[in-house]
Amino acid sequence: MSKEDKPLDYQRRILDTKGVAQRVDLDYLKRPNRFRDLRHMLTWLAPAVAAAASIPFILGIGGGEKVFSNGPVSRSHAIFENNCGACHASLFSSVADASCKNCHDGPPHPAKSIDTGKLSSEPRCAQCHLEHQGRGIMAEVKDGNCTSCHGNLLLNGSGIKLASTRVTTFAEGKHPDFPALKKIDARPLKLNHAVHMPLQPKTIRNMKLPMKCGDCHTTGLNSPKGDLMPVTFDRHCMSCHKRELEFDVYQVLGALSAPSPHTKDPETIHAHILATYEKALAANPSLPERPLGREFVPTSNPSAWLDKVVHDSESFLFDRKCQYCHEYESGSAGGSNGYPVVRKTAPVLGRFVSGNPQGEPWLTRGEFSHRAHRAVDCASCHSAAKTSTKTGDILIPKMADCTACHSGSGTHLDNCSQCHLYHNKSKESDKDRRPVRELVGSATKFTGSESSTLPSRYQRERLGAEYVTGGHP
Ligand code: HEC
Ligand code: HEC
Ligand code: HEC
Ligand code: HEC
Ligand code: HEC
Ligand code: HEC
Ligand code: HEC
Ligand code: HEC
Ligand code: HEC
Ligand code: HEC
Repeated sequence: MSKEDKPLDYQRRILDTKGVAQRVDLDYLKRPNRFRDLRHMLTWLAPAVAAAASIPFILGIGGGEKVFSNGPVSRSHAIFENNCGACHASLFSSVADASCKNCHDGPPHPAKSIDTGKLSSEPRCAQCHLEHQGRGIMAEVKDGNCTSCHGNLLLNGSGIKLASTRVTTFAEGKHPDFPALKKIDARPLKLNHAVHMPLQPKTIRNMKLPMKCGDCHTTGLNSPKGDLMPVTFDRHCMSCHKRELEFDVYQVLGALSAPSPHTKDPETIHAHILATYEKALAANPSLPERPLGREFVPTSNPSAWLDKVVHDSESFLFDRKCQYCHEYESGSAGGSNGYPVVRKTAPVLGRFVSGNPQGEPWLTRGEFSHRAHRAVDCASCHSAAKTSTKTGDILIPKMADCTACHSGSGTHLDNCSQCHLYHNKSKESDKDRRPVRELVGSATKFTGSESSTLPSRYQRERLGAEYVTGGHP
């Protein structure tokens, strides 16, 4: 069958020139059309209805301005939903940044002060923060607002450091892997994760292994983000490693043998060692007559004996035992007591940076909350930890550890704004404060139903510890 032989309605579907021509109804405008007539009528009717409806508004009676509203505003703004003027300088016009800035700073991007790139132009507030979309969360911003620049930063700003970083979505190859993976961990503290976490349970000198992550890394319950607490010797190592602080080099103390305190102050250690031997001497004045290694001639002079045992014990402790876990300052045999000085390593939290006692966060351009992930096994994100044998290994997750949940879920979990800040909060200034009435207007009642979405990061951070300990909704 050729094309012409087919039924007319089929011929019209074929999109060659002839097919298209056949689709045009040449008599359309001549035929009577109820729809067209209705449209003409509405052109006049609609403004008439609108004018009538605005009478109560103009007179300020009844439901008032809400009649014109496009739908409920976001949950944080619900308190002044009916006070249209708070956002709309004039009705039916777009909302200028100045209106938002009456109440908010909206400080500039980039969010982190390590980045100094300048934007060539900034979108309007209302472009990212949509209103009248129901009781949503305005800070959950659509990705297009970010990728419009981050697809190619060079076109959208000046002084750019992240020039080669193109981000189009949170997925492998479309978002850079975390720079933390390329950082180094130079903490001068020896920690062999693997030794403490063998695959098979075992007991070494009454020490039960494997340990769990939580035996050393505990969650700070007062931190809204569930940040971890520093690892300390006293709470996390001492129960098993006391013997590393024992100093009784000649085995003369017997039952009085006790580990040295673990402290920053060599004087305290010295005083402890001295006191321990003095006590032993008082209990058994004949101690100095026992042989002490080869060079020492037994003596009845207790002070010569004390000098010898104290000196040798300190030297044993500082020269040999501390380095089970520590590194020494190079060429530092010149501590106040003449023994090597332990390099600074505390607090054991964050990324160690020599000369900065507080360390630095591992992530400098992204946000993270351990609390939001407390249902997830530590090792699913920190997959390298159980087999790591040295401190220098980087155990921070890589992007692939996140994509199972944060990529292609089709929910807010995939959004840039879930993991990144936009505004540089350090550039915020304190606003002039105003009385409640002036802020929310007189029409404070609203009738929209509350949304059941969980509070977002932004809201939780504000609610702080109180929300957190109060339990999950
Ligand atoms: C919290 C601020 C806020 C309040 C309060 C508010 N609006 Fe809006 N409204 C907006 C924003 C933002 C837009 C989007 C306009 C834009 O893109 O500039 C908008 C858009 C509109 C639009 C569409 C007009 C356009 O240009 O897109 C109408 C109509 C409207 N609002 C009516 C109202 C009415 C009526 C009230 C009071 C009952 C009200 N709004 C209260 C923020 C607000
Ligand atoms: C009359 C004062 C007022 C105006 C005008 C106002 N806001 Fe708000 N906004 C608030 C208050 C109050 C809150 C709740 C407390 C807070 O988060 O600071 C809030 C919260 C927010 C939040 C965080 C909560 C959320 O839902 O994510 C965003 C984002 C926001 N406003 C953006 C805007 C934008 C954009 C405009 C302009 C269209 C605007 N606001 C206009 C008072 C105002
Ligand atoms: C108008 C262009 C523009 C838009 C829109 C934009 N960015 Fe940026 N962004 C930049 C520039 C410029 C830098 C600084 C780069 C530099 O200094 O090398 C930057 C830096 C960043 C950084 C690096 C860390 C930091 O904050 O300093 C992140 C993360 C980021 N933006 C995320 C976002 C997210 C998320 C959004 C959307 C909510 C967004 N950006 C929207 C231009 C933009
Ligand atoms: C390119 C998109 C974008 C633009 C433009 C933008 N914001 Fe935001 N805003 C965000 C994102 C993403 C967040 C959530 C992350 C954060 O807090 O930085 C946010 C958060 C906020 C918050 C809540 C956080 C807080 O600390 O209170 C307020 C308020 C806010 N923006 C106001 C504004 C105002 C006012 C403007 C205009 C001057 C503006 N925003 C322009 C993306 C944008
Ligand atoms: C015996 C105590 C102990 C146990 C058990 C332990 N850790 Fe650690 N962990 C430490 C110490 C001490 C450090 C600091 C030394 C360092 O930087 O490697 C550390 C550092 C880390 C770091 C940051 C340092 C880096 O290089 O990335 C991560 C992440 C980490 N541990 C995860 C884990 C996980 C996950 C587990 C469980 C599978 C675990 N740890 C079990 C003591 C422990
Ligand atoms: C539950 C007991 C236990 C705790 C608590 C513990 N360890 Fe250990 N640790 C062991 C055992 C068992 C070994 C293996 C000792 C052996 O083979 O003699 C070990 C070995 C070590 C080693 C030597 C590793 C190697 O490469 O041979 C270091 C260093 C060490 N631990 C540091 C620490 C630090 C630092 C802490 C506290 C953050 C800590 N340990 C907490 C049981 C523990
Ligand atoms: C079993 C491992 C272990 C042994 C053995 C050990 N320490 Fe430590 N030490 C730690 C850990 C873990 C920290 C960091 C956490 C803390 O401060 O409790 C630390 C911290 C320190 C600090 C604080 C450093 C700073 O940055 O402020 C000093 C000083 C110190 N140790 C001295 C010693 C001395 C001296 C010895 C030997 C007598 C010793 N330690 C033996 C594990 C050990
Ligand atoms: C959903 C993934 C995820 C899970 C689950 C997770 N972490 Fe982390 N962890 C991270 C990320 C991302 C970082 C880097 C950002 C930061 O420091 O907060 C980190 C950082 C750390 C650090 C170094 C931070 C510091 O300040 O010293 C330690 C230690 C750590 N995690 C231990 C744990 C332990 C223990 C668990 C289980 C109780 C755990 N993590 C569960 C993703 C995770
Ligand atoms: C098992 C799934 C899962 C994995 C894997 C996961 N996340 Fe999440 N993440 C979630 C869920 C669910 C939430 C929302 C939690 C909430 O709202 O209480 C979330 C929230 C977040 C938030 C917002 C925090 C907050 O307090 O609301 C950030 C940032 C984040 N994830 C980053 C990461 C990073 C980075 C990784 C990889 C290292 C990761 N996530 C891996 C499921 C996951
Ligand atoms: C699941 C959480 C998550 C999501 C979703 C996410 N990011 Fe990231 N992003 C991170 C983390 C973590 C880093 C590493 C931050 C660091 O190491 O300091 C990062 C790094 C970046 C950087 C800096 C890269 C560099 O080289 O330093 C930019 C720019 C960035 N993201 C933009 C975006 C944009 C745009 C989106 C949305 C399309 C997005 N991110 C979505 C977690 C996320």
